[in-house]
Amino acid sequence: MAESMRGLHRTHRCTEVSTANVGETVTVMGWVQKRRNLGSLIFIDLRDRSGILQIVFDENSVGSDGFAKAGDLRSEYVIAVVGTVQKRSAAVNENLKTGDIEVIATSLRILSEAETPPFQIEENSQTKDEVRLKYRYLDLRRPDIQRNLMLRSKVAYLMREFMTKEGFLEIETPILCKSTPEGARDYLVPSRIHPGSFYALPQSPQLFKQLLMASGYDRYFQIAKCFRDEDLRADRQPEFTQADMELSFVDMDDVIDVNERLLQYVFKEAIGVEISLPLQRMPWQEAMDRFGSDKPDTRFGMELTNVSEIVRDCGFGVFTGALENGGSVRGINVKGQGAMPRKKIDKLVEFAKGYGAKGLAYLCVNEDGTYKSSFAKFMTEEELAKLVEAMAGEPGDLLLFAADKNKIVWNVLGALRVELAKELDLLDSNQYNFLWVTEFPLLEWSEEENRYMAMHHPFTMPMEEDWDKIDTDPGAVRAIAYDIVLNGTELGGGSVRIHQDDIQEKMFEVLGFTKERAHEQFGFLLDAFKYGVPPHAGLAYGLDRLVMHMVHADSIRDVIAFPKVKDASCLMSNAPDVVDPKQLEELGIEISEETEE
Ligand code: AMO
Ligand code: AMP
Repeated sequence: MAESMRGLHRTHRCTEVSTANVGETVTVMGWVQKRRNLGSLIFIDLRDRSGILQIVFDENSVGSDGFAKAGDLRSEYVIAVVGTVQKRSAAVNENLKTGDIEVIATSLRILSEAETPPFQIEENSQTKDEVRLKYRYLDLRRPDIQRNLMLRSKVAYLMREFMTKEGFLEIETPILCKSTPEGARDYLVPSRIHPGSFYALPQSPQLFKQLLMASGYDRYFQIAKCFRDEDLRADRQPEFTQADMELSFVDMDDVIDVNERLLQYVFKEAIGVEISLPLQRMPWQEAMDRFGSDKPDTRFGMELTNVSEIVRDCGFGVFTGALENGGSVRGINVKGQGAMPRKKIDKLVEFAKGYGAKGLAYLCVNEDGTYKSSFAKFMTEEELAKLVEAMAGEPGDLLLFAADKNKIVWNVLGALRVELAKELDLLDSNQYNFLWVTEFPLLEWSEEENRYMAMHHPFTMPMEEDWDKIDTDPGAVRAIAYDIVLNGTELGGGSVRIHQDDIQEKMFEVLGFTKERAHEQFGFLLDAFKYGVPPHAGLAYGLDRLVMHMVHADSIRDVIAFPKVKDASCLMSNAPDVVDPKQLEELGIEISEETEE
């Protein structure tokens, strides 16, 4: 039978009780983790979000009714216990924060009974993800998830505290917005009052925060929910949280400065990690050339080497063919892995194909200086020796080469490098390598759309020194955009914004927008800028990703209370779901038979 609080007041969370309380009476409440009967004593591990506390029921202290009640307790019952703190009579439990004390119960109240849960509530549960997420409210009781969410709360608090002290105002922006192209796919919300019209959920507060700058708020920040209808990955969710900011009267260095201090503060206060400033910066081109990625993990080497010039006239058609098509040939040297079995190398080839490679050429430098290779037969001894030298290949090394368009070569070797580092255990999870990647290309050619697209967004400022190339060689124009990268993950990104009419107009023209269409989509922003707008810049972090790194979670789901799964559904609530036909009628929406099937 469930009892109510009736005048009971909790005095401590479980692990707030310590040897300092010995002899005192305390009232604690929580969930029964475990019951053990030991003759005339019953032991209960009591659990709350702070941890575990041992309760002892002794008939002399709790009375015969209380003792009988304690004998009925089962896992996940919710109870309240009043008792006296004492030093542990038996051996101290080193694994528990409260391992040297226990509470001798004088009274017990059962606040709620519980059915046997579908899985044990314990740390590092081996339970299948689908079951965990179906019963997420139980999964959320697990100590490791609770620690993650408590840290997340602390990080959000620390950010708010720091930003407020730095003069940022927290301002909310709308969730029901106008759909704008040029990003990921929007989530749409039908309007009842305007049948046939739709709101879009914001992919980020980008336009609104720029408007706030035009309106004179000077420094804005927000912990903002964002929505993107894109394919899920281990570090992506359709709905996620940004720690978002925008600053007026600043340049890139000002944004970087305040963000470096923010990161330093948050990492120190949240997880005790010291970050020394300034953080390293690297232009995009260098990141691609050296690491094959715009978010390089710099905790290990295995950098890319461009061997295009070395192999230009060699006899291997795969290499020369790629060069003739305007591509490149690059390689990585996997140190000391020359004896890797053929089967494992074949797996690497398959991995590379997953990233768009047509193949992966390999060369093992044997201990006796001879080679074992998939392409040696196409090259002369001299050509091979030159190639090995260019790769700094030594006996015992494994050299891997990709030949294709630059983009594919970077993609393949960049991913391979990280995969090999994982396999070879080269990654130290306690090392935090931050890196600013700067000087991104302003535009990116889209094969699909057959036009240039903004790499960041259409409001990103081009670098002044490149602007004269906007008509002749748009792809070569760099942007004043920056990403903050941590151990190979893009934590956040931002840019200096365009605040000049003429540059913005040109930008739309290059992106293939007519004046009318630009106005239709972004008119309110363009109009606002006519009435006086300060130079401004900003940045947004993926808060989920930031916390994920701090707690070393493998999945973004471990730092989100109610996450979605791969097909963007919620296994617990069953969203998305069909709705009442009446609701559809009100919205003037009809589901086509094809869709229903
Ligand atoms: P951007 O699109 O780079 O920039 O997003 C900023 C950061 O948000 C995180 N992020 C995500 N996290 C989880 N799931 C997702 N689906 C997801 N998509 C993005 C990433 C990313 O670095 N308005 C600009 C910022 C600006 O220019 O100020 C923007 O949204 O960590
Ligand atoms: P082939 O002559 O097609 O059998 O290729 C010889 C070797 O080159 C094989 O090991 C292939 O995996 C490899 N290879 C094929 N295409 C590429 C490519 N684009 N880049 C690197 N290696 C490749």
